[in-house]
Amino acid sequence: MIIRDARASDKKHIVKFCQNTFSWGDYIPDVWDSWLSDGDLLVIEKKIPIGVCHGVFSKNQLWIEGIRINSDFRRQGLASNLIKRFESLASKKKISKVFMLIDTENYASLLMTQNLGYKIYQTWKFYSLLPQKNNFSDISFGNVIKVGEFSHYVKSWRWLPLNKQKLNSLNSKNRIVYSKKSKNKSIAILGDSEHFEKTLIVTLFSGSKKDTINIILFLQNLGFEKKYKRIQILTKEILPEFTSLEHKISFHLMQKLLS
Ligand SMILES: CC(C)(COP(=O)(O)OP(=O)(O)OC[C@H]1O[C@@H](n2cnc3c(N)ncnc32)[C@H](O)[C@@H]1OP(=O)(O)O)[C@@H](O)C(=O)NCCC(=O)NCCS
Repeated sequence: MIIRDARASDKKHIVKFCQNTFSWGDYIPDVWDSWLSDGDLLVIEKKIPIGVCHGVFSKNQLWIEGIRINSDFRRQGLASNLIKRFESLASKKKISKVFMLIDTENYASLLMTQNLGYKIYQTWKFYSLLPQKNNFSDISFGNVIKVGEFSHYVKSWRWLPLNKQKLNSLNSKNRIVYSKKSKNKSIAILGDSEHFEKTLIVTLFSGSKKDTINIILFLQNLGFEKKYKRIQILTKEILPEFTSLEHKISFHLMQKLLS
């Protein structure tokens, strides 16, 4: 068993066993090329590649994603070994926090990460929303988030640290919007998917029902005007009932602190 950096020629082997990973299929074939060019894409091979995992290093954080093991080779510790390899790379870079996202119903994966010392850090909900022309009022752009108020935001389905530098850069690109009709405002961070075209990805910090509905109306209209195919909302809160807003799935954000 060898763990090594992925090569372009591995794609056919990986894609072959990643057709039906989940009931809806898998996204690995769609992101493979981009992950390969990003780097930090590892495969595990026994004559041919039978497992894969991608890592994204940022300031004091390692993000692990896309862990897949060919179903003929599971329960042999292969996924655990891939994760441990990434953890040792993180330690060498003096990074102490590792995060990954797991469907709250993916018991195999949850058990595996818990065995490796990961803990549930937060639980997030994924809602889909259809673009639609409509009216909203009193939406403002600007940074109303205090440093440390929220730990992460979602960029292309990666939970990245929301530090001062990131808040400033999001703000300068007009990516932070809020509604403050009541005391408990709702804030959204907007982003485009790097892997799927015309997909708006929104981190929503939901406050009052009134403000959340207002932000949702704004997002729908933005989707309509900018011709987005889909709007994906990630939030820790339960959102109010709203036509064409659908709760799809929940995820645990898992964390391990490396010593
Ligand atoms: C989840 C997955 C990556 C695990 O890969 P794996 O190589 O079989 O995992 P490991 O052998 O390292 O498992 C380590 C431990 O995790 C737990 N575990 C893993 N799969 C399990 C299963 N199907 N049922 C129960 N426990 C399981 C066990 O405690 C296992 O130790 P044990 O075999 O000694 O009992 C693999 O099942 C897979 O590719 N699943 C589909 C894709 C997926 O869900 N990826 C994760 C998305 S976050």
